[in-house]
Amino acid sequence: ARVEFLDYDVLAERGWSLADDDLFEKAAESGLDGDAYGEVFVEPRTNLLKAAEDAGHSWPFACRGGACANCAVAVVDGEVKMPSNHILSEEMLDQGVRLSCISLPVTDDLQVVYNIEHLPGLDELRL
Ligand code: FES
Repeated sequence: ARVEFLDYDVLAERGWSLADDDLFEKAAESGLDGDAYGEVFVEPRTNLLKAAEDAGHSWPFACRGGACANCAVAVVDGEVKMPSNHILSEEMLDQGVRLSCISLPVTDDLQVVYNIEHLPGLDELRL
């Protein structure tokens, strides 16, 4: 799967929102550096976090086991599956929040905002 990614810090700095329809178009046109915006390819049975790391990126994580939410991402387009979820609320799932350390792509193309630790509701989850 092909994953287009964007750092949440960029949204915070520029006043962009996860709900912006043209979020990734704006990112593509903004001359962001390769850590903040770009794409990675995810092999079958590989989680998003691992794929990003294999491509040389440093995305936040701690437990690597679906228990802390440090690795949380917002899936803006496309679909991933998680084998289990013990910490994300229904509301967060509805917003597209997923744990990158255990998320496997379902669709061929994904748009993902990583580093969303400052998204309301996530702070109190991180252990
Ligand atoms: Fe802890 Fe993914 S690193 S849930």
